[in-house]
Amino acid sequence: MDPLPQETIRRKRDGQTLSPPEITRFIRGLTNGEVSEGQAAAFAMAVWFKGMSQAETVALTLAMRDSGAILDWRDLDRPVVDKHSTGGVGDNVSLALAPVAAACGLAVPMISGRGLGHTGGTLDKLESIAGYTIAPPEALFRRTVRETGCAIIGQTADLAPADRRLYAIRDVTATVDSLPLITASILSKKLAAGLNALVLDVKVGNGAFMTTMTEAETLARSLAGIAGGAGLAASALVTDMNQPLADAAGNAVEVASAIALLRGDETGTRLERTVITLAAEMILLAGLEMNSAAAAARARAALASGAAAEVFARMVHRLGGPPDLLERPEAHLPRAPAIRTVHASQSGYLSACDTRALGLAVIELGGGRTRPDQPIDHRVGFDRLPPLGTWVDKGTEIGRAHAASEAMADHAAERLAALYRISGEPPPPVAGVLAHITA
Ligand code: URA
Repeated sequence: MDPLPQETIRRKRDGQTLSPPEITRFIRGLTNGEVSEGQAAAFAMAVWFKGMSQAETVALTLAMRDSGAILDWRDLDRPVVDKHSTGGVGDNVSLALAPVAAACGLAVPMISGRGLGHTGGTLDKLESIAGYTIAPPEALFRRTVRETGCAIIGQTADLAPADRRLYAIRDVTATVDSLPLITASILSKKLAAGLNALVLDVKVGNGAFMTTMTEAETLARSLAGIAGGAGLAASALVTDMNQPLADAAGNAVEVASAIALLRGDETGTRLERTVITLAAEMILLAGLEMNSAAAAARARAALASGAAAEVFARMVHRLGGPPDLLERPEAHLPRAPAIRTVHASQSGYLSACDTRALGLAVIELGGGRTRPDQPIDHRVGFDRLPPLGTWVDKGTEIGRAHAASEAMADHAAERLAALYRISGEPPPPVAGVLAHITA
């Protein structure tokens, strides 16, 4: 006789350890509707307070993975690898990383999300591209991965449906920020995507959800450990999010920035270094190279030769976008009616950025949501943002605000100027990877 859901909740509430079959049964009930919304909320709150052991979290992850379809890529002759970022501002890495990894010989079926809180979402960015579909029929998704090496799309209805139900309940019951629940939520979707390996980019800093190294390392260890326990080769890199990663924050502006990287218009940037680092980690995990120098060289070559740009262009076209996006991005990306240049108010080094506030400023411009069902304005945001450490003379351009109206552009430009600190001392250099945790 299966334990009643209320018994499972009581046992977790009292701090007992749930057995894997008990967790599986609860998640099955969550998926088929036998577990009520109230019971799911009580379960989430019990886990929030009492936590879960490694074995319990692995069982929860696997049960949520098994609640729907699991993609099968055995027809491909390439390792299937993906990256997950915990989210940040100006983090358009996925747009360039998936094609770089594909050009290096990996298959990347990337299931991405929308903006969350102050952070941007890859799907919202891709929807800046006229015609691009983030919800293709499964056959088109599979064909795109098989023929181009990568496809970036949204979560489909039959992938980890238990996570979708539990996440919606967590969202309104103050139970999102639980380490085992976050870990199982992220990994169940990645496992359902049928991956052989996963690189986790855990962001830390004033533009990330984890603002301290301790928090970020704890999440990184949880993600890498549970992925390993669930049989997925994984490693987690903790990387800096104390400034936007790209030179832009918004949707169309971040697509333009990724295209500039893929075309080789911009080199030596933080974005480029991050893409190479993450691609090298994916290549190593997949076993295509034996050391990180060789893996990074392979990723750099894919970018420099134009092979990654070619993959991106083909992926966009296959998924409904224009065939010449790479050649003529300005013809296909929407442009805001009002663009305002922002100037430095004094001379000095750009020494700090309030990155979270920058993400919120994008939302205020209409480039993100305040309600889940809200349409967004893909045209707005900020670009030409110099990296921290840049010396600026008074009056030098320190970015541009793109807005739906002249008044909004004026307001956003004022905000941007106030978000950067300019001082006589450059900020200390920041390592590309702050911690590296393997499963
Ligand atoms: N992203 C997810 O997919 N799930 C969480 O629980 C948190 C972030």
